Amino acid sequence: MKVKWGVIGCGGIANRRTLPGMMLAENAELVAVMDTNYDAAKACKEAYGARFAFDKAEDLLALEEIQAVYIASPVFCHKEQAKLAAKAKKHILLEKPMGLSVVEAKEIAKLCEKEGVKLGVAFMMRFHSYHQKMQEMIQGGTLGEIVSAHAKFTCWYPEMENCWRQDKALSGGGAMLDMAIHSIDLIRYITGLEIKESTGFIGNQVFRYHAEDAGVGVYKMENGALCVVESSFNIPDEVSVGRLEIYGTKGSMVAEGTLSQEEGGSLTVLALEQTGDYDAQQNRSTVAPIPVAVTFGNMYTKEIEAFGKAVLGEGDIPVTAEDAIRSQKAIEDLYSLEK
Ligand SMILES: NC(=O)c1ccc[n+]([C@@H]2O[C@H](COP(=O)([O-])OP(=O)(O)OC[C@H]3O[C@@H](n4cnc5c(N)ncnc54)[C@H](O)[C@@H]3O)[C@@H](O)[C@H]2O)c1
Repeated sequence: MKVKWGVIGCGGIANRRTLPGMMLAENAELVAVMDTNYDAAKACKEAYGARFAFDKAEDLLALEEIQAVYIASPVFCHKEQAKLAAKAKKHILLEKPMGLSVVEAKEIAKLCEKEGVKLGVAFMMRFHSYHQKMQEMIQGGTLGEIVSAHAKFTCWYPEMENCWRQDKALSGGGAMLDMAIHSIDLIRYITGLEIKESTGFIGNQVFRYHAEDAGVGVYKMENGALCVVESSFNIPDEVSVGRLEIYGTKGSMVAEGTLSQEEGGSLTVLALEQTGDYDAQQNRSTVAPIPVAVTFGNMYTKEIEAFGKAVLGEGDIPVTAEDAIRSQKAIEDLYSLEK
């Protein structure tokens, strides 16, 4: 069985990643696309073989055959479009962050619950093979008790005219809400630990737009583990090394280049069977890395297939609203420190 999809917002991520990924999904059929910029919708209709292109969400949602919509419009449009889609009884895969604020995200979740439609949030990095391996190994005890994590995920995002992402009123936030939210989602997913306390800094170091171009969050997890999550819009892509590191009492995992829109990068896992006595030498080179074999795929294809299974009643929603709201709250906590 295939889920019949409509896509709302045919810009950057939909056209660059999710629609190509959807084309490879076993259980997906693209029916219609919509963008307020009709040329963008038309281009996607032609490129991906949709039957309809619209410039109004209402027109797409009026198609009875559509079972699920993927909403990839700018964040300030999410709530209204999710509301329309829920009222039209369409299941929703909503791009991150869910809304401009936690309050808005909760309203969206409530609306979907009221209308009886499934709501999933598009944290596609959970489908990276290395992140899934990290989760599996950590849940299996490879690292012992988790004590810390560090994630750095950056891009180059200079000032541009009429850029919704650079205006906090339209995006909800800058580098932290746009990028670090993925790192927070992954740390929570991989370790299975929830955040208990948050602190940190946000600011504008290089660019003067109305959303932060850099931030760092420091989080104390429910077991006491300490996590540092950094993102910036002001480090050139060519020199950026995205990293996700997790440490425990028996081992460490360092993933490089996995915080990305493409599956790839590397993962180094070092682990001991058991810990020994204090060693004044503090020798750092005695353990051989544990080989981790994976076959890379397409995170967006896996995301569409997994949400499709939930729609078809063949699986759970991969990232629920409740789950996504926790990650958004972790960022919002930092914003509230600045007031
Ligand atoms: N998961 C990921 O890999 C990933 C990556 C980038 C962006 N995103 C998320 O996807 C969403 C869109 O980001 P983007 O980078 O693609 O933005 P974008 O600006 O590149 O594209 C947005 C598109 O939406 C259209 N649009 C504007 N208003 C609209 C409306 N009211 N209804 C329908 N379409 C409308 C624009 O014309 C444009 O084509 C955001 O929530 C963003 O955080 C996710």
